[in-house]
Amino acid sequence: MKRVGIIFGSTTGNTAKVASMIAERLGSQAIVHDIIDKELDGLDDYDICLFGIPTWDFGELQEDWADIWDSVKVLALPGKPCALFGLGDQIGYGEWFLDAMGLLHAELSRAGADLAGYWPIDGYDFEASKALTQDGSHFVGLALDEDSQSSETEARIDQWLDQLKRDFEMS
Ligand SMILES: Cc1cc2nc3c(=O)[nH]c(=O)nc-3n(C[C@H](O)[C@H](O)[C@H](O)COP(=O)(O)O)c2cc1C
Repeated sequence: MKRVGIIFGSTTGNTAKVASMIAERLGSQAIVHDIIDKELDGLDDYDICLFGIPTWDFGELQEDWADIWDSVKVLALPGKPCALFGLGDQIGYGEWFLDAMGLLHAELSRAGADLAGYWPIDGYDFEASKALTQDGSHFVGLALDEDSQSSETEARIDQWLDQLKRDFEMS
C-alpha cells in the first residue's frame, strides 16, 4: 500500500474539507497534512503527494502557503509522484481563477516532481487563470469551486481519484 500525503493550507475551511473527502476515499493509506501544523516536514515519508491550495486576494497564495513559500521554492522532489487540487471562485474572482494552484505547480515542476492529475477546463466559466496547461486545454490540477459549483465537488473528486489511481498505480 502506498502512503499518500494530502498536504494543504486553508483559511475558511473549504480546502480542509476537500482534503478530508479525499482522505476518506483513500482510506488508511492517506495522511492528512495541514501545513499550518507541519509546514513541509516529512514529505519524504509519502510515496505520493497531493497538494491542496486555494487562491486568495486576487490571484495570491493562501496565507499558510505564503508563510512557507521560501521552503517551497527550495523543495527538491525528483521523480516524486505529485498532483494538485485547487480551490477558487470562478464567478467572484474569474480573472484570477485558481492562480495559486498555477504558482504551486510551477514550483513543483521546478522541484522535479512527476506531475499528474491534470483536469479539463470544460464545465467552468472564468476569464483567466494561471493554472492552465500551455495549450489552455487543462488545469494543472483538479479545479474545485465550493463558492459557485459545490454540487460538482464530490463527482469531480471521484473522477480525479480514478484518474490518479491509473496514473500512479495506487489502490
Ligand atoms: C477575499 C477573497 C479573495 C479571493 N480571491 C480569489 C481569487 O483571486 N481567485 C480565486 O479563484 N478565488 C478566490 N477566492 C475564493 C476562495 O479561493 C474560495 O472561497 C476557497 O474555497 C477558499 O478556500 P479555503 O476555505 O480553504 O481558504 C477569494 C475569496 C475571498 C473571500
